[in-house]
Amino acid sequence: MSNLVPCDPTHPPADLIQRAARIIRRGGLVAFPTETVYGLGANALDPVAVGKIFAAKQRPHWDPLIVHVTGVEMASALAAGFPPLFAQLTEVFWPGPLTLVVEKSARIPPAVTAQRSQVALRMPRHPVIAALLAAADCPIAAPSANRFGRPSPTHAQHVADDLGAAVDLILDGGPTPLGVESTVLNLTTNPPAILRPGGISREQLETVIGPVIAAAPIIETAATEGLASPGTTHRHYAPEATVELFEDQATLAQRAAQLRGQGRRVGVLDAAADLERYAHDLYAQLRALDQQHVEVILARLPPPVGLGCAIRDRLTRAAAKDSSQIGIARASDRR
Ligand code: TXA
Ligand code: MG
Repeated sequence: MSNLVPCDPTHPPADLIQRAARIIRRGGLVAFPTETVYGLGANALDPVAVGKIFAAKQRPHWDPLIVHVTGVEMASALAAGFPPLFAQLTEVFWPGPLTLVVEKSARIPPAVTAQRSQVALRMPRHPVIAALLAAADCPIAAPSANRFGRPSPTHAQHVADDLGAAVDLILDGGPTPLGVESTVLNLTTNPPAILRPGGISREQLETVIGPVIAAAPIIETAATEGLASPGTTHRHYAPEATVELFEDQATLAQRAAQLRGQGRRVGVLDAAADLERYAHDLYAQLRALDQQHVEVILARLPPPVGLGCAIRDRLTRAAAKDSSQIGIARASDRR
């Protein structure tokens, strides 16, 4: 029997959600759509279950997981107290694609936070994960449901392709609405710092809490200690193809013509005018181009405003030449 089951994304059926919740409570793994990308979830309070996430993804143990919660009340049992900005932000942006890093309480097993003293908390908006959290009645630790080093999954089939039988149940709620991951904001520094740009823009955050520090500069060191957000290593996703980035369409078109003239297999990513569509399709297109074994991907960078920052960030990582990064030490050793 296939572990991939269709699930109405707006009205998830109660019996299916109960089945998924039982799996979570018994220490199993469930993949589900969120408003950003698909997540691979386990009971965040069960260290053995959390260990299965790392094994299924082949994710290095030093990369901490986001803990998904039903709301501020569940969050407060997992944190060692909240900075004042926490309430202001959650009031406006929860449920939604904003993950907040705060000091953790002793209830969170060390494996979840990769031994760190801080935990990343998020209340998702998508009805399927919202219903699952309510039914399971426990916090759910969940990274994106891709194999480590692959683009995040925006369709249930991506999860099945990457993780297959390692997941007990995949809830197929169709393509995820946003297509890029949540914004990760560190609230333990003053001013707060964006560790990963995502679904909530810097501009949106600043209208509520004033200045925030923009995305931490891309990490260039191979040392894992002291990384602000360890998963944001430079060359996080590395396609087989070379990725070239362009600020304008004309230069991209010229380069495409030149390469095609040389008989090279070229893929183009360009929807810079429509940021929402670009984000929505980005990971699926990267996967499709990998499957077509194109040699060169030419990508147009959207302007660095709003959602454009998150898209630029992911494209820049895909294009990064430096393979000296943690977890992606050699091209032949890609995870
Ligand atoms: O939209 C999302 O955030 C999706 C959905 C499933 O919620 N999740 C997701 O998780 O993208 P993941 O594990 O693929 O990325 C989480 C990022 C990583 O860069 C990780 O290093 C960082 O958040 N992170 C997690 N816990 C952290 C912590 N305690 N301190 C700093 N960074 C943390
Ligand atoms: Mg991820």
